[in-house]
Amino acid sequence: MSAAVPAAAQDAAPTTDPPAKLSTCLPCHGRNGIGTAPLNPNLAGQKALYMVKQLKAFKSGERRHDQMSLIAADLTDEDMEALSEWYAALPADGGNP
Ligand code: HEC
Repeated sequence: MSAAVPAAAQDAAPTTDPPAKLSTCLPCHGRNGIGTAPLNPNLAGQKALYMVKQLKAFKSGERRHDQMSLIAADLTDEDMEALSEWYAALPADGGNP
């Protein structure tokens, strides 16, 4: 049965449940981690540690962006790690062939 599912399709999605606050990110960064507008960066396949560092920098004010600074202010360290690991696990091309 499971042999009918191509291995690539199984690998395309993270196996864990989506992080609690993922829905906040989707309008701009997409469910597949590809930014939905030219100035929304792709997060798919980005390094998790780098993303955690950026989210902490938005929260602390070290890095400033009107929207991301507000969004990061509502994230705990645990949220940041879960969201970053989720996006890091997505294929960098958004899962397109
Ligand atoms: C309203 C749109 C919007 C939403 C919602 C949003 N982001 Fe962003 N995000 C952006 C934009 C725009 C940037 C680029 C900021 C800049 O230009 O400095 C960014 C940057 C980032 C970066 C840094 C990327 C890099 O390459 O340095 C991370 C990580 C990130 N967002 C994660 C998240 C997460 C996680 C969520 C959900 C909790 C989220 N964002 C929600 C618009 C959004």
